[in-house]
Amino acid sequence: MESGNPTRRRGLMGSHGMPKLWHSSLTIKDQYKVETRTIAVDFGRSDIYDKIEAGLTGLEIGVLVNNVGVSYPYPEYYLQIPQLDNFITNMINVNVTSVCQMTRLVLPGMVERSKGVVLNISSASGMYPLPLLTIYSSTKAFVDFFSRGLHEEYRRQGIIIQSVLPFFVATKMTRIRKPTLDKPTPERYVAAELSTVGLQGQTNGYFPHAVMGWLTTKLVPCNVVILYGGRMNRLQRSGYLRRKKLREQANGDKLTELTEQANGDTPTEQANGDKPTEQRNGDGLKNGDRLKND
Ligand SMILES: NC(=O)c1ccc[n+]([C@@H]2O[C@H](COP(=O)([O-])OP(=O)(O)OC[C@H]3O[C@@H](n4cnc5c(N)ncnc54)[C@H](OP(=O)(O)O)[C@@H]3O)[C@@H](O)[C@H]2O)c1
Repeated sequence: MESGNPTRRRGLMGSHGMPKLWHSSLTIKDQYKVETRTIAVDFGRSDIYDKIEAGLTGLEIGVLVNNVGVSYPYPEYYLQIPQLDNFITNMINVNVTSVCQMTRLVLPGMVERSKGVVLNISSASGMYPLPLLTIYSSTKAFVDFFSRGLHEEYRRQGIIIQSVLPFFVATKMTRIRKPTLDKPTPERYVAAELSTVGLQGQTNGYFPHAVMGWLTTKLVPCNVVILYGGRMNRLQRSGYLRRKKLREQANGDKLTELTEQANGDTPTEQANGDKPTEQRNGDGLKNGDRLKND
């Protein structure tokens, strides 16, 4: 969330990790010489909006960025998602309820002043169904529809409501460590995105992403995109589960070794004349660096 006031510039931020929130708040304060206000809430809950409303008292909010979002830890079939019941509630509260409720709290002031900008961060995953990330993809389609509908309702009153649909950006969510042209840093993406505000109601926000958006919606039939997306996600899923299994095996082996050492037993590989565990697992050694990445 961000608020703007021509005379006293302020930033308002919401997240759930207090130390991280304070750190970000201080960084913004120092770097941009603005006042900041923080409200720590868990957007996975639905009973937080009175607290947020109270925290917003007295602020004139010029810009609202509905950025908070969660995705899957790895692509998974609907019924095999661990703790599916909680997963559904959390994802809908974070990705959908937050957008509607924050807009409910902030839009009236914007309408009163006949100006304001709401940036809703949807996703390219909301442009078509994405199998094995189905709930995420559906929540992002909701954000896109909500934004475009609301934009048409309020644009005559001077309010811009933009639907932002990025492809991959190198963030904590995607765990992409090396940014590339098509997977930019957040800074690069945001700089490009901001230049589209007021020009595009719905945007991929960054030229290479706009090209990808055009290719996947205009050039390739939707069914092919869904099929391909499903295939990619099945591959990712099996890779993730294989690495998880290897890691668990490696941890299990290590635990056995440690227990044996603690009991004063001779380490297994020496007694058997075997190679060390990692070499026995061959694959495990080769995948060592990938295991670290999960
Ligand atoms: N990265 C991409 O490739 C990509 C692509 C398309 C769309 N998007 C969308 O872009 C937005 C930002 O994502 P990101 O990539 O920057 O992900 P991120 O690094 O994981 O950031 C997500 C943000 O949401 C906050 N958050 C998550 N769950 C929360 C909860 N229950 N309560 C309060 N705050 C919560 C996180 O706060 P903490 O840090 O305190 O956990 C963090 O600030 C999301 O809506 C995402 O769906 C991202």
